[in-house]
Formats: sequence, C-alpha cells, structure tokens
Amino acid sequence: MSSEDDYGDGYEGYQDFDRLALDRSGQAEAFDAIGDRYDEAFPHKEGQVKAGQWLADTLAPGSRVLDVGCGTGLPTARQLTDAGHRVTGIDISPGMLKLARDNVPGAEFHQVDIVDLRAGGRYGPGGARELGPFDGIAAFFALVLLPRPEIPYALRALHAVLRPGGPMTLSMVEADVDDFAIPFLGNSVRVSGYLREDLRQVVSDAGFEITGEESHAYAPASTDVPPEIQLYLHCRRRA
Ligand SMILES: C[S@@+](CC[C@H](N)C(=O)[O-])C[C@H]1O[C@@H](n2cnc3c(N)ncnc32)[C@H](O)[C@@H]1O
Repeated sequence: MSSEDDYGDGYEGYQDFDRLALDRSGQAEAFDAIGDRYDEAFPHKEGQVKAGQWLADTLAPGSRVLDVGCGTGLPTARQLTDAGHRVTGIDISPGMLKLARDNVPGAEFHQVDIVDLRAGGRYGPGGARELGPFDGIAAFFALVLLPRPEIPYALRALHAVLRPGGPMTLSMVEADVDDFAIPFLGNSVRVSGYLREDLRQVVSDAGFEITGEESHAYAPASTDVPPEIQLYLHCRRRA
C-alpha cells in the first residue's frame, strides 16, 4: 500500500500509522479527575498567553482556529475567542470539555483525539466528520501526552487540517523522556518530551517552517509537579 493510501495526504514517511498501538488508557480519565485543579496548579501562564497573542495577531480577523488539547479552554480558547476568532477546541477528556464549554461559550468543542485529524481520519480531510480546514492552530502542552512514536503523526495530522502557510504555535516541556509515567495532581499521566534541537527537527520534518522560539522557566503552584522549562515554537505550514 502506498503512503497516500495509508495516511491520506501522500506524505512519504508516515505510512506505518496503522501499526501504532494507540494506548489512551488512563489519560482522559486522569484529566477528567484533575478538572479545574489544572488551572489552579498552573496559574500565571505568561508564556502561553504571549504565544496565544502572537497567533491571534498573526491571523486575519474572524479566522478559524483550532485549539488542540484545549483543556479547560483557559486561557487559550477564551483569548482567541475574545480576539474575534472562531475557535474550535478538541480534547479527549469529557470533563475538560465540559469546563471548556462553560468557560468559553463562544467557542465550539469536540471530543476528538489529535491523531483522528489526519487526512482520511474521521475528523480530518476527507473524513465523515471533517473539522477543518483551519487558518491557525494552537497546540499548548497537548503533544506531551502522546508517546514519542505518535508525535510525528500527530504533527502531520495538524499539518493536514491547517491551510498552507497558516500559523501554528505549540508548546512542549523540554525533557528527554518518552511515555514516562509521572504523578500529576494526584493522578498518573504518561508524558513525553524532547530536547529543543530534537523538537525543532520533529516539527520541521512534519512540514512546518519554524519562525520563532521562546523558552520560559516555569514553577507550577502545585508541589507534586516539578519546575520545568517550557518551549514555545511559532511555525508556518509549508505547502
Ligand atoms: C496538559 S493539558 C493542556 C491543556 C491546555 N492546552 C493548556 O495548555 O492549558 C493537556 C490536554 O490534552 C488533552 N489530551 C491528551 N491526549 C490527547 C489526545 N490524544 N488528543 C486530544 N487531546 C488530548 C488532555 O485531556 C488535556 O486536557
């Protein structure tokens, strides 16, 4: 089978998606249980708000924007909605989506897994419930919840739903870990990360030009979440 048949967008190198054993066990449940304690543990999101502002300002008024792994909708879906954009948030946690709908009534939210945005996926181009195309994408601390082998596919899925040349801002925690279980606000979640050069490579390989980068040292309010270095990349989809 060709990569086009497998992945749907003719991109070489992503032909093994069907061989990934996707395991979401516990991840959505953990975020359901965390609920709005997430916002209490991570206050003062200056880096994220700044990156969200970059996206809001880069887009034409009234643009369609995807908020990937939107969580409670705060601050990003609300920030982009308040800036006059039309926001669609996706998340796998029904509990987070309920909070997001309450927090940001002006946006729409769907229970969708990132990888199902891929071309040919249920919510991707050609899918039965296609959500795109989008003019811009925010993906803050969402890819960290995927095992590393899935991250290139997830990025390629975001590429598939973003218009050519469209801006994307994403954030990750800088860490050399893959699918590593950590205690997180009384729950266990599995997280992945990259060192910054590796992150740039993975994002670039998925078809994005990186136009800017910022890093922030961040100390969460909660004691069971260690201090972290947050990396923000500003990108554009290459055609
Ligand atoms: C660390 S939180 C970040 C929330 C928000 N983007 C923010 O920065 O405030 C990660 C979110 O991604 C969601 N998530 C995890 N895996 C996902 C997946 N495969 N597809 C979509 N959302 C996912 C979680 O349920 C959670 O709400």
